[in-house]
Amino acid sequence: MCGIVGYIGHRPCIQIVFDGLKKMEYRGYDSAGIAVLDNGQIALSKESGKIDNLKPSIAKLPQGATVGIGHTRWATHGLPTRENAHPHEAEHLALIHNGIIENYKELKLELINQGIHFRSETDTEVIAHLVSLELKRTPKPIEALQKVIKRLEGAFSVAFIVDSIPDQIFVAKQGSPLVIGLGDKEVFFGSDITAFVNYTQKAIFLQDGDIAMVKADGITLWDKTGKEFTPKITHVQWSPGSADKQGFRHYMLKEIHEQPRVVSATTQALVKDNKLDPTALGLDKIDLKKIKSVHIVACGTAYYAGMLAKYFMEPLLGLSVNVELASEFRYRDPFFFPNGETLLMAISQSGETADTLACVKHAKDKGCQIFSICNVAYSSIHRESHGSLLMFAGPEIGVASTKAFTSQVLCAYLWTLGAAQQLGRVPTVELDAALQDLKTLPLYLDQALNAEESIIELASKLYQYPNFLFIGRGMSSVIALEGALKLKEISYIHAEGYAAGELKHGPIALVDKQIPIVAIAPHDRYYEKTLSNVEEICAREGQVYGIGDDKDQRLKEICVQVIPCPSVKNPVFQAILSTVGVQFLAYHIAVKRGTDVDQPRNLAKSVTVE
Ligand code: G6P
Repeated sequence: MCGIVGYIGHRPCIQIVFDGLKKMEYRGYDSAGIAVLDNGQIALSKESGKIDNLKPSIAKLPQGATVGIGHTRWATHGLPTRENAHPHEAEHLALIHNGIIENYKELKLELINQGIHFRSETDTEVIAHLVSLELKRTPKPIEALQKVIKRLEGAFSVAFIVDSIPDQIFVAKQGSPLVIGLGDKEVFFGSDITAFVNYTQKAIFLQDGDIAMVKADGITLWDKTGKEFTPKITHVQWSPGSADKQGFRHYMLKEIHEQPRVVSATTQALVKDNKLDPTALGLDKIDLKKIKSVHIVACGTAYYAGMLAKYFMEPLLGLSVNVELASEFRYRDPFFFPNGETLLMAISQSGETADTLACVKHAKDKGCQIFSICNVAYSSIHRESHGSLLMFAGPEIGVASTKAFTSQVLCAYLWTLGAAQQLGRVPTVELDAALQDLKTLPLYLDQALNAEESIIELASKLYQYPNFLFIGRGMSSVIALEGALKLKEISYIHAEGYAAGELKHGPIALVDKQIPIVAIAPHDRYYEKTLSNVEEICAREGQVYGIGDDKDQRLKEICVQVIPCPSVKNPVFQAILSTVGVQFLAYHIAVKRGTDVDQPRNLAKSVTVE
């Protein structure tokens, strides 16, 4: 968690660093700070709370400074106070850090015994003091950094400035992401490319163990063995403006509306001449014939994408597919067939989620084939995988995932269809029908988005209820889980998602007039069963709101209201369409309740700590 940014160049840096921080705010937002270097002096501004709280104090920084670093925090060690906010200062330097230093307690004790006074409760301050002490022994900051890094255990990316070195910033990466952006006589860096993509699309993705000396006219890099190397420069695909709100009130709203475009972009990239492109799907990197079982691991919304995938993957591949929360999987002893016969599929928007990454590393050590579906190129999970499919969602900034979910489901589906085709397990007609339906999915998504007005009205009726229940069967049971997660994440309303068939084993006891129940009831093979469950709720005076076909008279009769959702034949596409309703409902309820939709309390988008 936490986001870091930096700039060195010919322009005044404060606004650039501030804007970069705003882009990083999804990573944590309980306190923030900026330090600049000007005329041999470090000037610093930091505050608790949101990045905007910095505005008055950054106005007092030297406005002409062209070297600066910034940090937005998601507290791990110490409360989100001003004192604990980064940058942290030690003699002659200011330092920012993303990650966790696991052995900071021993190091802190050692430093205290040497007479060092600590101003914060953070693990980060330890690094600042260690570097500062090393700088007394060597005039070369890179040497000091190399020495300090050897002593740190855990995951981190760090950056620091030294008052006597006016034209350099020093950075290091170990376990937490760090990307450098190369401009014209200016260099940017950040925890991800959105920090600078509006200025440059030339990026260097640092690898674990890399350290760099960053100057306006270029950078020098050393790898983990201390050897200098020439970096690979990547031209990133995300365009300027793709990480902006583009007129929408919130990123989340913009991202919900982007879903038809995400589907079109995915189709364009993965389907060539009406055929799935095996190379674009990453199928060439996996030995499919070897696979005897599949584990899918993920967290949060990505986990629900994995749960959905199980529905189509098992029948299409003819393999048993286990879907598991990465935080659980990593600490048990799952069974793996030897020699690449187990495929571990990791699904992660950020590609940095610590638990998912740990599963990938563990399974890789055990000889599994690793395939990942990620949205961020060169992210840790992407890099650790034998094969991968990069999603086409563009940057997702809202903490609650929306378009990434659609993209994950679609990518997993198309990958599965491609794999099934290679294994000779899917009849051509079935495949052609799926690809045909895929072409019209963006249009149906547009229709689903048209339901927004009626959902706004519904939200204004429901927003004060303290509890919600979401139900569905088949893939809709997963959408019920996702609907409940979305609602609790951004509106702080307690919500549960249940497979409708499970109602009578417990949750039906909750049913009364005070708990709105959202039933996801498309016209699919479960329709009759779902309607019976809705009837059971109605018989107990429950109030049910359906998500389904608004021409469906039966559904309309038994529900208080139906959120219209187009009906399509393909069950995966139907699930994607149903999701729009639960996304909008959560969003508009949260807006009515006045919560911070894009940055809900206590959460962060990229969970790089356990
Ligand atoms: C956090 C985010 C969720 C996301 C989950 C997994 O909890 O708030 O929106 O689904 O992490 O993130 P990943 O980047 O691995 O998909």
